[in-house]
Amino acid sequence: MPVPPQLVPHPTQLTLLPGRFTFDAATALTIAPGAEGAAELLRTLLRPATGLRLPSRSDGPVVLALDPALTGLGDEGYGLTVGPEGVLLRAARPRGLLAGVQTLRQLLPVQALHDEPVRGVEWSVPCVQITDVPRFSWRGAMLDVARHFRPVSFLRRYVDLLALHKLNVLHLHLTDDQGWRMPVAARPRLTEIGGLPHGGAYTRSELAGLVRHAAERGITVVPEIEMPGHARAVLAAYPELGNRPDRALGVWDRWGVCDTVLGVHDEVLDFCREVLDEVLDVFPSPHVHIGGEECPTAEWHASPVARRRVAEQGLDGPDALHGWFMEQVGRHLLDAGRRPLGWTETGADLPPYFTVMPWRDTAHGRTAARRGHQVVMAPHRSTYLDYPQSASPHEPPGQPGAVVDLRAVHGTDPAPAHWSPAETARVLGTQAQLWTEYVPTAAHAEYLAFPRLCALAETAWTGRRDWAGFQARLRHHRTRLDTLRVPRRLSPTSVQGEESP
Ligand code: ACM
Repeated sequence: MPVPPQLVPHPTQLTLLPGRFTFDAATALTIAPGAEGAAELLRTLLRPATGLRLPSRSDGPVVLALDPALTGLGDEGYGLTVGPEGVLLRAARPRGLLAGVQTLRQLLPVQALHDEPVRGVEWSVPCVQITDVPRFSWRGAMLDVARHFRPVSFLRRYVDLLALHKLNVLHLHLTDDQGWRMPVAARPRLTEIGGLPHGGAYTRSELAGLVRHAAERGITVVPEIEMPGHARAVLAAYPELGNRPDRALGVWDRWGVCDTVLGVHDEVLDFCREVLDEVLDVFPSPHVHIGGEECPTAEWHASPVARRRVAEQGLDGPDALHGWFMEQVGRHLLDAGRRPLGWTETGADLPPYFTVMPWRDTAHGRTAARRGHQVVMAPHRSTYLDYPQSASPHEPPGQPGAVVDLRAVHGTDPAPAHWSPAETARVLGTQAQLWTEYVPTAAHAEYLAFPRLCALAETAWTGRRDWAGFQARLRHHRTRLDTLRVPRRLSPTSVQGEESP
């Protein structure tokens, strides 16, 4: 019996058939209208190792076709039929074709993933019949580029790795107490001051290029600008936006939650809207994240300006300024045609039109869904990739916390079976978080991300909990990650890239 292809994530339905199809120098593509992007992606991905040009021809044996009548495939599903004489990839929408391209790539010998020419390999794929539709529409990875900056070359490679696993959201945590990485023309000091610690800042054209690169791979880049807490880098640049404008602050140079938060005077709201308007220009994503978590309110309790705001708005007290603040800024995003997104700490702390990411307890996801929120599950016990992957003493030093092993990531259902259909329907999906306080190097980031992102992709795409099957497929999939030079281990230098403050 031939061995079935070892695909990650596993397709919804896969039938292995006898025979193989071989790509060679003469293989041409038949590209139906709307399939041009998928054809270009296939060429881009296969050319470095295989040298295949895959020209377009009206009777090419590899057919890429869009058929809007295939509504059962949704936005991202696809059908793939490989026979000895040809390949037929079909989808209702372009993103489905992009997902199918990644499957074709995994069906090829693993050497097809090399970034340099490989000789002496037959570029053949097994004959199969695949129908594949994701369970969840949000299959994401959050990367914190505020604590440790990563250049855009790293992000483009990260996007490529996400796309291989059919993950479709890169959530970029662009600002925090310890750094500000988002260029804002109207506010240059944000990146002049806030971009200094641990790296630098992006340019607008770098980010626009990243957004394009990601879209060509079916990935949406979702920006996050933190407020009203996690804002010390803003206040180092513009102290007048704080609760004590007389006080000169540096960018926060320690890890952990900082008491300093934005003020609640009109200038602050104008500032947030001004920054977000530039963010919206660069990032076309339907959702825009405005943080919202870990917001100590001691400064508001002490501030006459904040207490005046409480009285004027008829709020219960300074603690209620958090929800009020998120509402002011969330409305601005709604008015601009976007959906505000925030971290939730209870499931009930944000206006109901926010899409929320419950990061503390899984139960908060259900609370939020009952309140009518759309939910992206991000519980720390199973999706925080900065936590160690095992209790082994050989794990590199990192974020102190519970172990999040592969099985925990794989085994956590974003919408558990005992939730009601209405609650489940509000779960858009799930994502993994890579906070980088303790992750100073690119190698360390990739080491922490993989293979746990493979498990998240499996959970979010197939919705199946076949742990034994996943482990077996992962053994082969590891050779793909090796070929892509994703580190299985870390050398001492890749851990100690830089001193943590
Ligand atoms: C978080 O862990 N600060 C959402």
